[in-house]
Amino acid sequence: MTDSKDNSKKALVDELNGLLADHLALFFKTKNFHWHVAGPRFRDLHLMFDEQAIEIRDQIDAIGERVRKLGMNTLTSIGSVAKATQIKDQDDTSLSAEKMVEELRDDNAAMVKRLKAMKPLAEEAGDNATDGLLDDWTDMAEERVWFLSQTLK
Ligand SMILES: [Fe+2]
Repeated sequence: MTDSKDNSKKALVDELNGLLADHLALFFKTKNFHWHVAGPRFRDLHLMFDEQAIEIRDQIDAIGERVRKLGMNTLTSIGSVAKATQIKDQDDTSLSAEKMVEELRDDNAAMVKRLKAMKPLAEEAGDNATDGLLDDWTDMAEERVWFLSQTLK
């Protein structure tokens, strides 16, 4: 493997670990909102947040195993997740339902951005499998952004 291929693979794996951290953090935040949402739309939002949390959770293993298939190491702890994620903590349990939806919309939109920026890294690394998975994960994140945005209209 050439040096440039090595560098591309390392850049890709760093971003895969960032993506792993984002999914873990966003899973927890989405569950947090599932548990704490209040107001007249409680039932709808409570259920939508749970559907989205389950979808996000189900990608965590696929991302971690992709890193291992590339022969590299995953994140190993909550501490390493906290350092690698771009998803900010939200510890205010009295946040309004609308603010919760807005925050998840923005977090998922940031995830879409990260995923799109990873495409050239997968291509440079010649990693077809990750390239294909990125398309699937982008579609899922865009669907979450769509659902959340529609809820705000
Ligand atoms: Fe629940």
